Amino acid sequence: MASEAEGQWVLMATGRSPTNIAVIKYWGKRDEALILPINDSISVTLDPDHLSATTTVAVSPSFASDRMWLNGKEISLSGGRFQSCLREIRKRACDFEDEKKGIKIKKEDWEKLHVHISSYNNFPTAAGLASSAAGFACLVFTLGKLMNVKEDYGELSSVARQGSGSACRSISGGFVKWCMGKKDDGSDSIAVQLADEAHWTDLVIIIAVVSSKQKETSSTSGMRDSVETSPLLQYRAQTVVPSRVLKMEEAIKNRDFESFAKLTCADSNQFHAVCLDTSPPIFYTNDTSHRIISLVEKWNHSEGAPQVAYTFDAGPNAVLIARNRKTAARLLQKLLYYFPPQDKDLSSYLVGDKSILSDAGLHSMEDVEALPAPPEMKIQDQRFTGDVSYFICSRIGAGPKVVADESQALLDSATGLPRGL
Ligand code: ADE
Repeated sequence: MASEAEGQWVLMATGRSPTNIAVIKYWGKRDEALILPINDSISVTLDPDHLSATTTVAVSPSFASDRMWLNGKEISLSGGRFQSCLREIRKRACDFEDEKKGIKIKKEDWEKLHVHISSYNNFPTAAGLASSAAGFACLVFTLGKLMNVKEDYGELSSVARQGSGSACRSISGGFVKWCMGKKDDGSDSIAVQLADEAHWTDLVIIIAVVSSKQKETSSTSGMRDSVETSPLLQYRAQTVVPSRVLKMEEAIKNRDFESFAKLTCADSNQFHAVCLDTSPPIFYTNDTSHRIISLVEKWNHSEGAPQVAYTFDAGPNAVLIARNRKTAARLLQKLLYYFPPQDKDLSSYLVGDKSILSDAGLHSMEDVEALPAPPEMKIQDQRFTGDVSYFICSRIGAGPKVVADESQALLDSATGLPRGL
């Protein structure tokens, strides 16, 4: 290691990574430590403008230990998942030189340098929106940039997988398949891009962030319980998912919304059936989730073909995928009829791509109050004010990117500590 101003320098990189939502679900590990799944899964990557993690990583000879701040608060890096990601990236680091700054780091020197990490999510971390997928993908991607890692996205995805399984699918944009792999060392359990974000731009994603008072079962312990106790999970992994994955790949390739929607809804429902089949049973969805499923099912039925797909992860939030913008605007009208905001502020009730509100003709709360009851629904007079915290309107988006603008770095370039501390 050499530098003109020995020990004074701080080398940094900043990246942004999206979150993703599985349309063929990952549920169940065959190896807990390496995070190897019992079936393939497929996801869509969400637009990082609306749902992403931004992470700055820095190294300096002056740092005394590895440290991390999440959303401004220092957290421990001692957990096995962080340690795996740091170890695996350091292993793959390459020689680096910045002649202007007089910094030269040899491959073997990276191990001796401590890192500082600061990460922010642009959505509430506790909302159950796969923040750890975005977070670990971002950490691995950005550390890889900093340490001049030359490996391809497949290899990076296998490192991100060791932070959080679904993080491996956030290493690419568009439509992504996580191949479960067969090897014991996990080297073939990687994510591959099926199609990029430009492939199917008609799709619009509306997420209902559902208020939940119930403490949820963590995915890690829920999965473990399902693997140990659910006979349905074995059937799902061995018999159902392999053919569903092939059909989903075909649906994506052909932009066949009808098949895409049917497979997505069926897979979400089977995942929650596995949760119920677990002992003790796990309940991730709630009454609000079920009302949203009912609304979409009845509407799809009344149209004679699917207009919207729904999918639910390990929590009550509904992720709704509409076939196009016009359908998304109609969906929003139906959703706002049943789930109007508690206060009168419509603009903070829908975040992300707010232009969908004007497409739906919703400019004020008076417009929401004047919405007609969806004719396909039996219960028309009941409204469930306050049961949805807010909606996010998004689309399919790109994979991780370097944030080149240094003013957006989350660590101070002189001290390597979080800005503002
Ligand atoms: N868990 C949740 N958000 C995260 C982030 N941004 N980075 C790492 N881990 C996380």
